[in-house]
This record gives sequence, structure tokens and C-alpha cells, in this order.
Amino acid sequence: MVERPRGTNDWGPQDMAKRRFVESRFIQLAESFGFREVSTPTFESLELFTAKSGLGIVRELYAFKDQGGRDLALRPEFTASILRFYVSSLRSLPKPLKLYTAGNAFRYEEPQKGRYREFYQLNAEIIGGASLPSDAEAVALAIGTMRAIGLKQVKARIGNIGVLRSFLPFSPTDQSIVLHSLDKRNFPMLDAELARLGRKDLSTPLRKLVELSGDASILNDAAKVLGGASTEGLDYLRDLAGFLDDYGVSRSDYTFDMGVVRGLDYYTGMVFEIDSPNLGAEKQVGGGGAYRLSEIFGGEPVAQTGFALGLDRLVMAAEAEGTIEAPRPLDAYVVPVGDTARKKAIQILTSLRAAGLGADIDLIGRGPSKNLDYANAIGARFAVILGERELKQGRATVREMATGVQREVALDDLVDTVRNV
Ligand code: HAM
Repeated sequence: MVERPRGTNDWGPQDMAKRRFVESRFIQLAESFGFREVSTPTFESLELFTAKSGLGIVRELYAFKDQGGRDLALRPEFTASILRFYVSSLRSLPKPLKLYTAGNAFRYEEPQKGRYREFYQLNAEIIGGASLPSDAEAVALAIGTMRAIGLKQVKARIGNIGVLRSFLPFSPTDQSIVLHSLDKRNFPMLDAELARLGRKDLSTPLRKLVELSGDASILNDAAKVLGGASTEGLDYLRDLAGFLDDYGVSRSDYTFDMGVVRGLDYYTGMVFEIDSPNLGAEKQVGGGGAYRLSEIFGGEPVAQTGFALGLDRLVMAAEAEGTIEAPRPLDAYVVPVGDTARKKAIQILTSLRAAGLGADIDLIGRGPSKNLDYANAIGARFAVILGERELKQGRATVREMATGVQREVALDDLVDTVRNV
């Protein structure tokens, strides 16, 4: 028996119904916001992800050579792929471009509940809008998706990595090493790096900065830590909060948090993460922010912002809060009684399906009572029992499975009966 690889999942029919429920709420909302769907390859050239994804992600890549000797990698996320696609083919489309995609991504992580090697993201990007309104639109869609799934417990943390970056006067590589140690809250590593760069004096203010979280008043505290440095990035967050008010995002849905560093390297401005407090260790259901990738891939410097929500974790959150709606049950299970009824039964089945109803039929040749047990077990709303006597009279017996109530109806009325009752 070959087992599935560690960190992957099989999803059965009930799991998939839940996953589709959550995914469809995202798709509906994204489309209502004017986003349109795109799709990019599951594997890409390795260098797409080594260019600007950052240390954490590069270490976790599923990288391999194909038979032509090309260096490839399974996508660990979507943003780099979508920006590659944008730069190569979508630049002439009217701006802003609002794109969404949903699919699997791969990271070689240590698997645990809610953390897998193959997982599924719901991803949205806005390219070429003005920064502030686009950032607000992205945060509103991310939080709105959680509301659309029915989740009450939403805790977003919004920061600005531009503030941290402007505080770190280093080369991009050194900046990303320092940010990585801050992201991991690895203070010994932070101090060692700052010592190497001859800026040990930054250690205390940096630590103070990343500890600041709360309502808008922490932005004043952050300004104090920054001393004379520019506070533009803090004013930006105040303005963003004003936009979010207008979107109807409640101030209790988010805190400002100067410690949001993100695990990916391409962020330059507003950054955010969303937690679902029910989920234990892997409670981060989403994250995103403003970034620069177009220019790295040879495109023009336009504003770029977006986010991804982890579907696996959203489903767990929705289960914990009991928000998942049961899928639509099968409308009718057709039970032919006797061999001669089968031919006519298939025609009736086909007419039910053609009318847009969900209909199934016995494929085993079971007796009527076993068939009714099966109809019950699969949760069909009605059993349509077709005996030879009924068929001769142009009628069928319709049994409502929930109540056991049976009545005879004319075949001409069958579709309406199953549809309306
Ligand atoms: P990310 O924070 O790396 O961002 O991932 C987004 C979400 O994907 C996480 O919050 C988490 O819910 C889910 N996720 C990540 N890794 C795993 C895993 N191993 N198992 C289960 N779920 C996981 C990005 O990927 C950025 N591309 C988001 C973005 C889009 N930024 C701008 N545009």
C-alpha cells in the first residue's frame, strides 16, 4: 500500500463540500468587488521565487530539474506568478487590474494541524491603482471574505513595513536578513546582525517598535520611537483606518501592529495579517500588503497590493464557529421496481436532470426497501418509486424522505412536484 506523502491531504466528499462553500464565498465577494479570475502554472522557473521571496520561502521550495535540465519549482504562493504574468502579458489591460486566483501551493514545512506541504490559497492582487485606496480595498476584501463565510472572530493586525525599512539603512540583502530575524522574533540573531553591520544602537528601538500593537494611539508611540525619522508611514495607517471606516470595517476587527514583518521579502508598505483566534498554533488565516515585484521582473513601478487567505485554515475556522452551510441535497433518487420499469425509469431520471434537478438512480438492482434505505443514507429529498402498475397509468409514487409521506403524482407533474415541495 503506497501512502500519500507527508504534509498532503486527501479530501473526501464532505470535506470538499466545505472547501467549496468557503471558496465560493470568496469568489462571489471578489467578483462583486470587480476582481476577475486568472490562472498561472503550478510550477515555474526556480528563479521566479528566488528573486524576491525571502529566506524563509526559498528554504522551503520544492525545487527540481526537469528532463531538459531546467531548474523549476512548485509555486509556494501566487504573487510572484501573477506579477510575472502581468509584466509579460497583461500590462496593456486597463488599470487598475484586479485579479484573483485560487489553487494549491507547496512549501516544505514541518507539517502539523493547519500547516501542510500542499495547501490551498485564495489570492487577490490589485495592480496599478493608487496606493491608499488599493490597500484599503484589499484589506476590505480580505476581512469581508471572512465575514461572508460567517466568521465572527476576525482579528487583523495592520502594520507598515516601510516604517521598519526606512529605519534600516542597509543594502537590500542586509535589510532582509535583519527583517527576517525580526519576523522570527529571533533577538540574538537580530543583535548579531546589527553588530556585524555596526549598528547595535538600533537594537533597542527596533525591539520597542515591533512590540507596539493596539489602537491608533500606538502610532503616536511609534512616532516617539522613531525620533526625528519620517512618520509618513504612520500617517498612512491613520488614513487607511479612515478608509476602512467607510468600508464598514469595524475598528474592533483590527489592531495596528508595528511588528507585522511578514515572511516574504517583497513587501514595501502597508502589511497585514489576519488571525482566527479559535485555531491554536496555526491561527494565521491570511496575510498580505503592498509590495514591489513588477519592477523586479522588468515592468514599470506601479502600486501593487494583495493578500492570500489559507483555505485549509479558513475551513477549520468555519467548522469551529459552525458557519458552514450544508450542501444542497440530491433532489430525487429514482427507484425502478422490476426490470421492465428500468428503461422508463432512466428516461424519467434524464428528464429530472434536464430540468436542472439533482437526480440519481439505482445502479445495483437492489430491491425497493434496500433502495429506500440507500436514498435515506445519501440524504435524498425524495424517492421516486416507479412500479409497472404506476407507469402503465402514467404515474409515479413520490416519497418525501424526511417525513415518509408518499403520494402518487402524474408523470407530467413530477418535475414540478420535486422542485416545489
Ligand atoms: P503568506 O502569509 O505566506 O502570504 O500566506 C498566506 C496564507 O496562506 C497564510 O496566512 C496561511 O493561512 C496560508 N498558508 C501559508 N502556508 C501554509 C501552509 N504550509 N499550510 C497551510 N496554510 C498555509 C502569501 O503567500 C502572499 N503571497 C500573500 C500576498 C498576496 N501578498 C500580496 N499578495
